Amino acid sequence: MDEGKGFRLETESLRILGDAVERLGAGFASLPPIGGPGADLDAIGRVLDEVCVRLHDNYPYFHPLYAGQMLAPPHPVARLAYALAMWINPNNHALDGGRASSRMEKEAVAEIARMVGWDAHLGHLCGGGTMANLEALWVGKCLRPGATVLASSQAHYTHSRISAVLGLPFEAIPCDRRGRMDVPALEARLRTGDVGMVVATMGTTAVGAVDPLPQILALRDRHGFRLHADAAYGGYFGLASGLDDDARAAYDRLADADSVVIDPHKHGLQPYGCGCVLFKDPSVGRLYRHDSPYTYFSSAELHLGEISLECSRPGAAAVALWATQRLLPLVRCGEFAAGLDRSLAAARQLWATVAADPRYVTPFAPELDIVVFAPRAATATQASARARRIFDAAARRGLHLALADLPVAFFEGVAPGMAFDRDTITCLRSVLMKAEHADWVARIAAVLDEATGEVPDA
Ligand SMILES: Cc1ncc(COP(=O)(O)O)c(C=O)c1O
Repeated sequence: MDEGKGFRLETESLRILGDAVERLGAGFASLPPIGGPGADLDAIGRVLDEVCVRLHDNYPYFHPLYAGQMLAPPHPVARLAYALAMWINPNNHALDGGRASSRMEKEAVAEIARMVGWDAHLGHLCGGGTMANLEALWVGKCLRPGATVLASSQAHYTHSRISAVLGLPFEAIPCDRRGRMDVPALEARLRTGDVGMVVATMGTTAVGAVDPLPQILALRDRHGFRLHADAAYGGYFGLASGLDDDARAAYDRLADADSVVIDPHKHGLQPYGCGCVLFKDPSVGRLYRHDSPYTYFSSAELHLGEISLECSRPGAAAVALWATQRLLPLVRCGEFAAGLDRSLAAARQLWATVAADPRYVTPFAPELDIVVFAPRAATATQASARARRIFDAAARRGLHLALADLPVAFFEGVAPGMAFDRDTITCLRSVLMKAEHADWVARIAAVLDEATGEVPDA
């Protein structure tokens, strides 16, 4: 913590960008010169001033006191590599649009696949988790046309929406009291038949719950559905050392899924626009087969557009991911994994603080790095209203949390005396996804304490 100096955005890393641009340009030195910047720098500077003013209208997502939603800045190496690639602006649709960046994408995606446990795979980057899940469910639909998709009631809303887009029936399976897919409920539904795909969530959006993959896979052995793992948020946590036993057991079976989605733009330190879909069976590539009269002419090597539903895709996203993984390889016990463990530790520490405070009720300890809790109150309605006021009071003190409506069932047995006069409780929610959060939990807890003290009980 840099107390007393006042906050400044990091700019030191910009010093190496200029040199890198020079070196990049040197590789094209045989071209005839084309002159200076091609634009009025004073005019650009004035526009950038305006951009700064406009961007001030944001929560400080880059700061550890922003502990609300799944938002974090990219690693400096990702930011710089992305910027460097912008001098070229490759398109990873076809090799002639982005030869180097397509190869970097294949290498980076292969490393993510190895993290999952796959030496062979088919996969690529895409716009984000929604697009990646769309592709996974689309492949599932091609293989099991018309069959129902199941996901838990805490799965991301994208699955029911994507199923509607694909014209597939969708049903939500209830969760247990910890927000994980309820296995007996899944089994009961499977017995009635016609299920094509089950989506297991590895880190739900609201609470970071990890569905019980070993038990779900045991049901696949009996019922023969396709298993898709939506690990958009939690996909990297298999590298962590500090998971609890259930989560560890789930991650240890991730390699048995048929498809996996992991978002580098969530826990992978990347700028937005970087999701990743992976298939265990590379032969599903045949389902993507299409003719493109305009592209794919430069090489018989695989063009990523041939195995992707999106056409143009940012090569810069692949360059940024490749550079990040070069600096921080996806290995257990490495620096990147240590960052995940720091987030886990931060979440446990914050949870322990609120769990010990009689002013709050908390349904369960975090499985990943998301902490949820509600103010203790006589009714769910009062608890919800109070959560909103604490959220505002914390924001006024510079601590930015989030709110999430959670089923009252999560609070059965842990909120004695609270009348459940509605189906959900609006809870305070904190995503501690920055490694630095580990150093800031005490400060976060102190601000939360003050904010809670400011909000009267009733
Ligand atoms: C589990 C899960 N799946 C899918 C998504 C959608 O991802 P995106 O916002 O990148 O489209 C999210 C987003 O938070 C998520 O948490």
